[in-house]
Amino acid sequence: MTSEKRSTFGGKLAAVLVTAGGSVGLGNIWRFPYVTGENGGGAFLLVYCACLLLLGIPVMLAEFSIGRNARSNAVEAYRRVSGRWSWVGYLALAASFLILGFYFVVSGWTTAYFVRSVTGELAALDSAEAYRTAFESFKASPWQPLLCALFFLWITHAIIVKGVEKGIERSAKVMMPLLFAVLIALTVRGLLMPGAAEGLKFLFMPDFSNLTPRSFLVAMGQAFFSLSLGFGAMITYSSYFKPDTDLVGTAVEVSVIDTLVAVLASMLIFPTVFTAGIAPESGPSLVFITLPAIFNTMPWPMVWSACFFLLLGLAALTSTISLHEPITLYLHEQKRMSRLTAARVTTAGLAVLVTLTSLSLGVLNGWKMAGMNLFDLLDFSTTNILLPVSALATSIFAGWVLDRKVLQRQLANGCSQRTGILNVTVFLLRWICPVLLLCIFFDNFGLL
Ligand code: PHE
Repeated sequence: MTSEKRSTFGGKLAAVLVTAGGSVGLGNIWRFPYVTGENGGGAFLLVYCACLLLLGIPVMLAEFSIGRNARSNAVEAYRRVSGRWSWVGYLALAASFLILGFYFVVSGWTTAYFVRSVTGELAALDSAEAYRTAFESFKASPWQPLLCALFFLWITHAIIVKGVEKGIERSAKVMMPLLFAVLIALTVRGLLMPGAAEGLKFLFMPDFSNLTPRSFLVAMGQAFFSLSLGFGAMITYSSYFKPDTDLVGTAVEVSVIDTLVAVLASMLIFPTVFTAGIAPESGPSLVFITLPAIFNTMPWPMVWSACFFLLLGLAALTSTISLHEPITLYLHEQKRMSRLTAARVTTAGLAVLVTLTSLSLGVLNGWKMAGMNLFDLLDFSTTNILLPVSALATSIFAGWVLDRKVLQRQLANGCSQRTGILNVTVFLLRWICPVLLLCIFFDNFGLL
């Protein structure tokens, strides 16, 4: 361990902004709106909120308590409580590294599309088909997407090497308000579109007939991914919280902000898509094909698409920082590297992975494992295997292994009134979260 004074975030607002930045990401913008619309709109939203209360917030509290209790990197945080559990920390770091492999590639695309919006290149395309062809050929081409992904990695690296206060905290204080400003402007624009009423109906009208048993699992998986649980990001960030930062309040606020961003993004996307009379979809095709094509039919297409890709880029950047930091901190504290060297080693490793992942959509597409190219493999294995396993282990660890007094001390923050919250959290972590997480895991493999 290093003996130098450990960094902390400035205060409550900083803790909330940075942590919310780590949870708001591409998932809020391209996945949440779609799964909500598909699974009964308002009815799904209710289920999603229940998942946040039953699963998301308790596991976030567990990660916060583990992190602030140890005030160290994720591996050491587990090891200090029980040497037999340090593998969960390694698993979380592996998940962070691997997810970054494809997250950076997609983040790079947002950079390219932002530039293409500003230069007018996007607006020059004239049909939905042209947007599809342009995206497919862009993604498969070797150089442009790769350079954009490496550029995004470089920005992330530059922020990380500036340190916790001057890099991570300061950037979140600028980026999060900017993200909200852009999001609100775009949402207002969406609500002024002719298809707004239809879009909002699709989004909010509770249609319980579309709510299937699978919807519950989808909601749980989305809650975990969206809150960035199981990746070591929350353990790492909470290790920088001040001793008096209220963990319960922070977890609730972060969940509210994360959900608000997802709902606002939906209020932008559905009215837009319905105005164009197109069926909503999710993922890259929604944000890189459908939406730019629709923006182009509106007045000022360049402005809207530039704002939209700026929004995506900001959301992605706050997440890439939160995934890079746990690995950097681990190398810095456990392998006794300076922070700069640790960040460089992490970035160098990522540069190799990102290069292979980006090329796997073009020249290396023939290189397949389990029938998937590297991009799909990383996406599948991190969200469907590593994330549920790591979140499951976290809840079992916090519910059964971690001394209840530690959890109590962390959650109570000096006030003794919190026994009710503690009891409920422990009950959920011990019994409810593990069972539900096992269901998600088996469902991902078609075993339910
Ligand atoms: N929560 C981010 C999103 O919604 C993804 C993420 C996962 C970020 C894990 C950090 C850690 O896109």
